[in-house]
Amino acid sequence: MKTINKVIAGAVTLSMGLTLAACGGGNSGGSSPAAPAATQAPAAASSDGGTKTVGIAMPTKSLERWNRDGEYLKKQFEDAGYKVELKYSDNDTNQQNNDIQGMIADKVDLLLIAAIDGSTLSQTLGDAKSANIPVIAYDRLIMDTDAVSYYVSFDNYTVGKLQGEFVRDQLGLDSTDKTFNIEFTAGDPADNNAGYFFNGAFDTLKPYIDSGKLVIPSGKSTFEQVATPSWSTDTALENMQNTLASYYSDGTILDVALCSNDSTALGVAQAITSDYNGGNAPIVTGQDGDIANLRNIVDGIQTMTVYKNVNDEAAVTLEVSKAILSGQTPDASLTDSLPAKAAFDTESYNNNVKVVPSYLLVPDVITKDNLQKLVDTGLYQWDADKKYLESTAATT
Ligand code: GAL
Repeated sequence: MKTINKVIAGAVTLSMGLTLAACGGGNSGGSSPAAPAATQAPAAASSDGGTKTVGIAMPTKSLERWNRDGEYLKKQFEDAGYKVELKYSDNDTNQQNNDIQGMIADKVDLLLIAAIDGSTLSQTLGDAKSANIPVIAYDRLIMDTDAVSYYVSFDNYTVGKLQGEFVRDQLGLDSTDKTFNIEFTAGDPADNNAGYFFNGAFDTLKPYIDSGKLVIPSGKSTFEQVATPSWSTDTALENMQNTLASYYSDGTILDVALCSNDSTALGVAQAITSDYNGGNAPIVTGQDGDIANLRNIVDGIQTMTVYKNVNDEAAVTLEVSKAILSGQTPDASLTDSLPAKAAFDTESYNNNVKVVPSYLLVPDVITKDNLQKLVDTGLYQWDADKKYLESTAATT
């Protein structure tokens, strides 16, 4: 796995927008105002006077968040006057290549791609480049090609850092002599984000691992040892059941299960519920704000999730797309007019062919004590009993 820039370099410019707290009207009460559908924004008109079409390729419907991303992107681009071709590729890289080839054959004007495996698209994107179709890597960087113009995502390293800092503060690691046991569960090796998440968390906790305050009874301390293909809940469940059976059946206490995202945390929490007899409730981390995990947070089975407002991610992607489709070269100055806070980064994301200019949004920490923040985005609502959260998105 490639070494990751720890500190986002100086070439970063911060914008004025707000992240979670509701501001401005717009489509979800969230922070990203959608363009009025009535008038066809000039950017949406194609050279033949028709409407420009945007091809949106999502990895799968089986991981909750992508349903929301697809829905928010489609709504925002259509509200802005674009036609949208949206495809989900069932976490199958061949299918995703075929789906994108289909969009190229349909002569879309722009491609937005959340790659299943960032290293399997270079030939297809070579065809996009030959057809003069600009490509934006959405959320996950696309590797080994110069056909990618921009990358829009959250600050992935910071996602992991927030998880590590949460564990540090929950355990009071800077002010205790106690030692604690931790196990890591990372993401899909095919997903370029997974390494950033893991490294952000591990780098933050490494000083305590080195000092012996944090112990990993399984000894699994590298990304490769704790990666979870396809971010699968079932695989995470099975891996944690094996770890508990091998290293915790003698009464060893598990204090922390650091999981990179919610789909893996769901499996790990299930294994702890069914196979762990330590009597304590281990800290369990996550990412994404998935509904089942938010429920577990209310019930004390999961402790936190790193929330990423994907409606904001869609809104920032729309602005970058509009600029590209109107012949501009988006740069740091765009951050001043973005509907959500994002940093412009020209150093951190090297896809092995070039450093891809990136717009990076800011993640946030959600626990049972600040769930209302999610409701304030307009993307979630309380259920009838005001106990659990539901999504306001039509698809999830
Ligand atoms: C990552 C994404 C995360 C998480 C994961 C599994 O690329 O950034 O939010 O959802 O995929 O889908």
